[in-house]
Amino acid sequence: MKIAVAGAGYVGLVTAACFAELGNDVICIDIDEEKIKKLNNNQIPIYEPGLEEIVIRNKKEDRLKFTTDLKSAIKNSEIIFICVGTPPKESGEADLSYVENVARTIAEVMDSYKVIVEKSTVPVHTGDKVAKSIKAYNKHKVDFDVVSNPEFLREGSAVTDFMQPDRVVIGCESEKAEQIMKKLYEPLKKPILFTDIKSAEIIKHASNSFLATKISFINAIANICEITGADVEKVAEGMGLDKRIGKQFLNAGIGYGGFCFPKDAEAFIRIAEKIGYDFKLLKATQEINTNQKADFVKKIEKALWVVKGKAIGVLGLAFKPNTDDMRFAPSIDIIKALQKEGAKLKAYDPEAMERSKAIFKDIEYCSNPYDAAKDADALIILTEWNEFKELDLNRIKSLMKHNLIVDGRNIYNPEDVKKSGFSYISIGRRDA
Ligand code: UDX
Repeated sequence: MKIAVAGAGYVGLVTAACFAELGNDVICIDIDEEKIKKLNNNQIPIYEPGLEEIVIRNKKEDRLKFTTDLKSAIKNSEIIFICVGTPPKESGEADLSYVENVARTIAEVMDSYKVIVEKSTVPVHTGDKVAKSIKAYNKHKVDFDVVSNPEFLREGSAVTDFMQPDRVVIGCESEKAEQIMKKLYEPLKKPILFTDIKSAEIIKHASNSFLATKISFINAIANICEITGADVEKVAEGMGLDKRIGKQFLNAGIGYGGFCFPKDAEAFIRIAEKIGYDFKLLKATQEINTNQKADFVKKIEKALWVVKGKAIGVLGLAFKPNTDDMRFAPSIDIIKALQKEGAKLKAYDPEAMERSKAIFKDIEYCSNPYDAAKDADALIILTEWNEFKELDLNRIKSLMKHNLIVDGRNIYNPEDVKKSGFSYISIGRRDA
């Protein structure tokens, strides 16, 4: 099938590459000339396991092209995916101007039937608005259908998530478009749920908000465990064995970050507000998430007594492992708070240091975890990269000024760390 993907960001690039990998002819468009130039030179702008390989292979086999020319891409495709950004406005609402722009261009250019698919995360009713806008500017008066096909890709496993999804959701209100979308996704051999457009739009926001709430729930339980002397990991295990609850997303820590959960929860609260519903549950989710970071800083302060002038080694900057992404990373708020207190920070992250340098110039960046620990008064763990789980704790101890580890991701067994001679503070567990 001939597909155009508007937007070569995270979602667009993965979508374009994976549809090409499935044998379709895909053209991916972005207004950023530099980005397109890089992609045409096989330089992938994001760190995503497996992506580079399929981009290069499909380009070579001529199934995947990159261009800045949206108009000719529209003309040459039957299905057009809108994967442009919907960044938060100051109010927390999503800025839909990029989506509207693409919709208008499609309307002005298309000269044959098109299926126009919104894949960017958008508020409910956007499908209606896209259809209205296309109808209003439909220069050649051709038939079209609008479809909502939300993405559920996680950074770090986006290619696998695309190729092996739990489900594909398609909001669609025409038989013709339904058949086309079915043909497109059938090769994945995964459940396809067809709904109306509004329900598909809500499924996306509801899914992300539910997962964010699950994380805040376990973080709230972690706080109760700390007060009572229980162990949040055991509690999560006991809860997760109930199939109705499930084990995933019950890891207590310093809260969720990334470009999706914080932004989508905020947007969903605004959407609800606009239609007259006070989404108190989601507001509480956000509040717990904010407090989780502040409470972590308090733990460090309590352990160090005076933070001013102390050297703190930071392990992990990315919002989660296997990505270089620092957008809305918990590390940002935690580092800012510690800097405000006068701490001197040394940090190491396997992938995110380049991105971090754009945010924090006044951190000493280290080439490995041991350098970050050297002469530190405390070592704090903010991202659970696998390489941190296997550190030589004796070596760390010999390097540090004061043997204190404050672990925001519960990567160590408290007893083991204690045996290695550290004071160890973690989340929701009896500290050693
Ligand atoms: C998320 C959704 O999972 C995905 O379906 C959607 O399309 C985009 O948003 P992503 O932002 O890549 O994906 O990350 P995810 O793996 O979901 O983690 C989000 C945040 O939650 C991270 O900061 C992570 O550290 C945190 N988290 C996750 C926890 O604190 N505890 C958990 O148990 C799970």
